[in-house]
Amino acid sequence: TVLVVDFGAQYAQLIARRVREARVYSEIVPHTMPVSEMLAKNPKAIVLSGGPSSVYAEDAPNVGPELFEAGVPVFGICYGFQAMARALGGTVARTGTREYGGTELQVTRPGSTLFEGTPENQSVWMSHGDSVSEAPEGFTVTATTPGTPVAAFENDEKKLYGVQHHPEVMHSTHGQMLLEHFLYRGAGLKPDWTTTNVVEESIAAIREQVGSKRAVCGLSGGVDSAVAAALVQRAIGSQLTCVYVDHGLMRKGESEQVEKDFVAATGVQLKVVDAEEQFLEALAGVSDPEQKRKIIGREFIRVFEQAAAEIVAEAGEHGESVEFLVQGTLYPDVVESGGGTGTANIKSHHNVGGLPEDLEFQLVEPLRRLFKDEVRMVGAELGLPDEIVHRQPFPGPGLGIRIVGEVTKERLDLLREADAIARQELTAAGLDRDIWQCPVVLLADVRSVGVQGDGRTYGHPIVLRPVSSEDAMTADWSRLPYDVLARISTRITNEVADVNRVVLDVTSKPPGTIEWE
Ligand code: XMP
Repeated sequence: TVLVVDFGAQYAQLIARRVREARVYSEIVPHTMPVSEMLAKNPKAIVLSGGPSSVYAEDAPNVGPELFEAGVPVFGICYGFQAMARALGGTVARTGTREYGGTELQVTRPGSTLFEGTPENQSVWMSHGDSVSEAPEGFTVTATTPGTPVAAFENDEKKLYGVQHHPEVMHSTHGQMLLEHFLYRGAGLKPDWTTTNVVEESIAAIREQVGSKRAVCGLSGGVDSAVAAALVQRAIGSQLTCVYVDHGLMRKGESEQVEKDFVAATGVQLKVVDAEEQFLEALAGVSDPEQKRKIIGREFIRVFEQAAAEIVAEAGEHGESVEFLVQGTLYPDVVESGGGTGTANIKSHHNVGGLPEDLEFQLVEPLRRLFKDEVRMVGAELGLPDEIVHRQPFPGPGLGIRIVGEVTKERLDLLREADAIARQELTAAGLDRDIWQCPVVLLADVRSVGVQGDGRTYGHPIVLRPVSSEDAMTADWSRLPYDVLARISTRITNEVADVNRVVLDVTSKPPGTIEWE
């Protein structure tokens, strides 16, 4: 394990991902963790992340010198570089000015452990206040920039290295190479964190945890629950039963995808609950978005609970108890909920929409250590089809929150058609990987006058909401080619009854959210 010590900047997750891209397993730990506890994890190397701009700032976190005396190779980045310099007796100058953005780094010792094989001049991304003005004793200065005389230092004997810039961001052209040089050449690590190993290790861990007991898993149709289920199925086979609640708010072909493609790819035991009527009845007459969400969440729990109880009862007849619930919790969720070091039995709810307290299961969370892109790789390794592995995000409440107005079967069918057309055309144009997602929304309470064929129409508008995003927290509207938009518009107005207008949403997030409700 490589530990990435998080000094509270937004870069720690990125560094952890880059280390893993170098095929070395990494974990994030908070800087508040005592050094003795870090060392107890037996790390093969430690990376100190960026953080507050100045080591002199009030409550700037400290790094004790004992971290550097344990014989563990350390790479200090930005703040971590300065903290390392300070702890080892170097000098950090209180410049009070900030250097921010792209700058030119000059390598003064080509062929050093970090810089071997990289150009003598390279672009790097800086974001700092103070600067190291003197390297600690025993260190060689290996790079400078116009604003920072000591921009990198290395000590091969003690295996301690540091750079002032941010090698983890794309703007640092040779950043990944520097990081790999530290890992492979500095710390002597091997690139052996591969998807195959991840799958093998996970399977062993799941078997160990579940033993001969049984488990249930709620499938939503999304990537995370699908990959989690496929992994657990690989590990314990028929001891797992998946539950798929078809609430009638799915898109065209989606339920079939779960029922057929997923089962075909995994051989999982699947219990499909057709709950369309129950959901539509509960939603009748409701147009308030929050109320819709609450109703859908509530009904979902009812149906899932009922299905799980049936599975438990059936299993009981054969003398096996169902003790485990599989969830697709990802590493960023774990880090963000302050975890990372926490253990299994916390209840994280986001995937199955909040399970009731009295449904007593232990959790199996095989994706707890993985980032989203790694989850997709594991899914591919397990043989899941591309349509599942590269699926764009789709909200749990489904099309129920894409009909502005009351949700009825008729409106759902109409929206399903329009959505299918938009998806077909986006796929045909090869745009699936360029956009984050493209909600298609029916404005059921709005009508406008149109002319189609020889007559006047009075139909509903459909909204296209294609967005680009990194993490759905912020988003921008996608600039789709006009001819693709034109094809979607023509087909929807021609093929979907009662729709006579297609409009494009050109709002970023903020101020708009991605979904309309
Ligand atoms: P908003 O509309 O808040 O959406 O910008 C951000 C992302 O979250 C998805 N979304 C949901 N996903 N359950 C989910 O599983 C929900 O209730 C839900 N609401 C929004 C949305 O599609 C987008 O990717």
